[in-house]
Amino acid sequence: MRSLLLAHFLFYLLLAAGEKVDRKPNFVLMMVDDLGIGDVGCYGNDTIRTPNIDRLASEGVKLTQHIAAAPLCTPSRAAFMTGRYALRSGLASTGRVQVLLFLGGSGGLPPSETTFAKRLQQQGYTTGLVGKWHLGVNCEQRGDHCHHPNQHGFSYFYGLPFTLFNDCVPGEGSDVFADLQHALRNLTMLLGVGLFTLVCVHVCGLLEVSLWILVPLFFLSSLATAVWYIPFKFLPTWNCIIMRNQEVIEQPMTVDTLPQRLLGEAQHFIKRNVDRPFLLFFSLAHIHTPLFKTPAFAGKSRHGRYGDNLEEVDWMIGQITETVDSLGLANNTLMYFTSDHGGHLEDDDSVIGQKGGWNGIYKGGKAMGGWEGGIRVPGIFRWPGRLAAGRVVDEPTSLMDLYPTLKYLAMDKQSDRLSDGHNLMPLLEGKVERSEHEFMFHYCGVSLNAVRWHPAGSDSVFKVHYFTPNFSPPGAGGCYDTKICLCHGEHVTHHNPPLLYDLFHDPSESRPLTPDTEPRYAEILEQTAKTVERHRNTLTNEQASDEDHSQSNAEAHSIQSQMSWDKILWRPWLQPCCGTFPFCGCKEDTTHI
Ligand SMILES: *[C@@H]1O[C@H](CO)[C@@H](O)[C@H](O)[C@H]1NC(C)=O
Ligand SMILES: *[C@@H]1O[C@H](CO)[C@@H](O)[C@H](O)[C@H]1NC(C)=O
Repeated sequence: MRSLLLAHFLFYLLLAAGEKVDRKPNFVLMMVDDLGIGDVGCYGNDTIRTPNIDRLASEGVKLTQHIAAAPLCTPSRAAFMTGRYALRSGLASTGRVQVLLFLGGSGGLPPSETTFAKRLQQQGYTTGLVGKWHLGVNCEQRGDHCHHPNQHGFSYFYGLPFTLFNDCVPGEGSDVFADLQHALRNLTMLLGVGLFTLVCVHVCGLLEVSLWILVPLFFLSSLATAVWYIPFKFLPTWNCIIMRNQEVIEQPMTVDTLPQRLLGEAQHFIKRNVDRPFLLFFSLAHIHTPLFKTPAFAGKSRHGRYGDNLEEVDWMIGQITETVDSLGLANNTLMYFTSDHGGHLEDDDSVIGQKGGWNGIYKGGKAMGGWEGGIRVPGIFRWPGRLAAGRVVDEPTSLMDLYPTLKYLAMDKQSDRLSDGHNLMPLLEGKVERSEHEFMFHYCGVSLNAVRWHPAGSDSVFKVHYFTPNFSPPGAGGCYDTKICLCHGEHVTHHNPPLLYDLFHDPSESRPLTPDTEPRYAEILEQTAKTVERHRNTLTNEQASDEDHSQSNAEAHSIQSQMSWDKILWRPWLQPCCGTFPFCGCKEDTTHI
């Protein structure tokens, strides 16, 4: 009792000494979509102008080995938000489709998951997400919003519950299975021709088939086709929408004005919350295709429209920084800049040229979970009051580290579920030299693509690849024939023994190690195999210990996949819609902007 009184006394003494002392820091997390590590000036690009991002790095800490947990949006973002591999939340896929395809699907970040936003909210933070979500909306009916950002700890949401993609702008092509859409169109045509032929045959008296059998047959088959085809046909209406909190405010969205609207919302959020601890996750729609055509940046860069978009991103980052600084929040705000995964190498065309990101010296890119270019991304932290300016950290770090880092800084001491990330503050502050990530697992969907090992007492960073994507055409450095690499079946080559590189001496992964060139060869394979085994055990056992204890173990053990076909495909009754479904349509009133 006496010690409690003493604690109270000390607490008030601290309060009296200056209210600011105890104030929790603000967080401004900025994530660009599909940005490559080679796209940024301070990571070695000398022809793209990114002075504002570079400034964050020179005023803060730059991570050179910052790793995304997955090489595609949905799983990478799930891992980022939860601090755990996407496999643990069911957002890792077994097959071809590794991202959510329809807002009207039922897959998404399960309500049972905890995000860093939810933790901070419980610590009294005002939390906001402005921009892209791409982690689902509804579960069972329109408006249940079980996967919605508001349910996952963000008290404010403005932005894209889905993502920006080519289908949002007519004439920009399609991201969602162009081949499947093509097949469906052909099937529809075939059905029409088939019916016509049958009717002719009947009319000409060549065949004694009753029309009464044909008609329902035809309707049934065209209905089946239409049910498959319609969701693809109306993608801009179904997927390209803007929500403010629970409400759809624009459908389909006007892409041209998106950058200024997102930026404005992010700035307003900061201004509204000057007086209390806040978290802003500014999740940009850039630099995914279709690329923006903002007049102020068009034609200004040395790298075509892609470069123009990069320079617009940099400008937006500068505006956010300026907002934080001009409100006097800099010393109490941790700013973070990153990308969800590597640049999309295969994205280009003869008119625009480069449309996807550049991963510098690193091999591979988006959708390649093993090759460094798919997962090594920029990572910058700035906090003038706390972090030394200009520090560079070469140790392995993960986007999943944000969760424990934020939790630590918000003084959230509640025990939590098994985490795959580590608090970054000791590294960022220079209190320790070594990262706690001795091992890291690199996933492509549910498949373990590669393992990274940074052995104690050594500079080496070994990477063991269990399989690699088959480039097409062979030797092309990417999967140009399919536009994107896949992680399963005949699309990959399995390696036994695994392929081994030392990233410290060979960051481009161009010289595989052999027992002759690497004395520790056998040890490396043995150590990583053991660690994989241990890691696998945590995937099946962890939930029993940290989920609701009243649940039966059997139930807790099964992590329901959110990426199965039945969860991914479009369901009309789940489609977010303003107006009366299926006549959805509305426009944001932007006169105030
Ligand atoms: C700089 O970025 C552009 C745009 O991605 C890219 O085309 C170029 O190759 C990069 N330059 C360097 C030196 O990395
Ligand atoms: C912010 O922190 C730095 C370093 O501790 C200090 O030099 C500067 O005066 C502070 N600025 C404000 C506005 O408090």
